[in-house]
Amino acid sequence: MRILYIGDIMGDMGIASVEKLLPEIVKTEKVDFVVAQAENVTAGKGISLLDYLKLKKLGIDAFTGGNWSLAKDTIIPSLNNPEEPIVRPANYPKGTDGLGYKIINKNGQKVLIISLLGQIVGRDSKRQMDNPLKVVDEIIEKFKSENPIIVVNFHGDYSSEKKVIGYYLDGRASLVVGDHWHIPTANAMVLPKGTAHITDVGMCGSLDSSLGVKLSSIIERWQKNIQTINVLEDSGRMQFNAVLADIDEKTHLATEIKQIQKTV
Ligand SMILES: [Fe+2]
Repeated sequence: MRILYIGDIMGDMGIASVEKLLPEIVKTEKVDFVVAQAENVTAGKGISLLDYLKLKKLGIDAFTGGNWSLAKDTIIPSLNNPEEPIVRPANYPKGTDGLGYKIINKNGQKVLIISLLGQIVGRDSKRQMDNPLKVVDEIIEKFKSENPIIVVNFHGDYSSEKKVIGYYLDGRASLVVGDHWHIPTANAMVLPKGTAHITDVGMCGSLDSSLGVKLSSIIERWQKNIQTINVLEDSGRMQFNAVLADIDEKTHLATEIKQIQKTV
């Protein structure tokens, strides 16, 4: 199975870059299953039901989450529904809205999607999260008899955490993808025991911006030491960052991973 994992789709320009590039990539690369990080889709904070339905129509099979997953009320019923292929981080404390892992069936294959939040992540850095290593162990154990292809997303600030989780899951997950930085790292590789991994996959959206935010709003804040509101860049060049992994359908381990980095 060829799995394409698309980095954080950031705002309208993120959606536009996916609209423009995804159909051709799926065709030329013979992609079987598309996953996308969806926590920044709607104006940079969360994803609305309308945008979720729009991206599903574009051919995205599963959606991962992060610190903004719960920001839009209209998506909560889908996060709660085991049949809807969208998750929020699995290590939010018990009682939090939404589900952190789901099984998605496609072409006779079962794909288990899991999102995890790192220990230090912007908005939720003061929130008490459950230990992501313990949580992911429990989830993988729960589905052992079903033997699914396993895609783990680790949404975090520390490159060290995102690197270590790959080796922690090496041989137990098919693909482990770090995100949240919006800047891709140049280290996509198959780890020694067969897990495809990248520290950070990057983002989709504005290229000439600060992680999708207009440079003018950031520079003014920095230069004058004043509070400014983040305004998303809505014009100019766009970037599309993803990884493409080949997963053996018998062993469910990876044979290859490559980065896809495009600008339009
Ligand atoms: Fe994030």
